[in-house]
Amino acid sequence: MTTKRTFTMIKPDAVNNGHTGNVINDILAGGFKIIAMKYLQLTKEQAENFYGVHRERPFFNDLVTFMISGPIVAAILEKENAVEDFRTLIGATNPENAAEGTIRRKYAKSIDANAIHGSDSNENAAIESNFFFSSFERF
Ligand code: GTP
Ligand code: MG
Repeated sequence: MTTKRTFTMIKPDAVNNGHTGNVINDILAGGFKIIAMKYLQLTKEQAENFYGVHRERPFFNDLVTFMISGPIVAAILEKENAVEDFRTLIGATNPENAAEGTIRRKYAKSIDANAIHGSDSNENAAIESNFFFSSFERF
């Protein structure tokens, strides 16, 4: 995995509220190329594994319950400086603090239902991409 890639999920709230198309549009308009994409619903075990770093946090059970509440869109994205630029595009974790024009500001309702995930490092981008996609499911 190069430093040009990041991983994202459009979360159940954004999918359920009909924002999938607009979110993908914002991602493409932000200069990201889609390397892989799939539509699926996580199992409890998968969500617990994906967010394993947060296992001891008080919001962990709520986070897992939310993430398995409906389908998501998972994708690998490519752009120079992908991880950092994508975090800028999506905005702060709490949509109330997210900058104007960011995906979370536009489409998220709360800190738990915050519309979209973006990897926080190159290392995690690779781990998360490999969690969802095999080598023959991407360019
Ligand atoms: P992700 O891209 O989803 O990983 O969000 P993030 O990197 O901006 O935040 P972080 O990894 O710290 O937290 C993961 C997810 O847990 C967030 O997206 C939130 O949905 C949820 N979360 C984080 N902090 C809180 C909190 O204080 N309360 C609640 N209810 N949820 C939280
Ligand atoms: Mg995170």
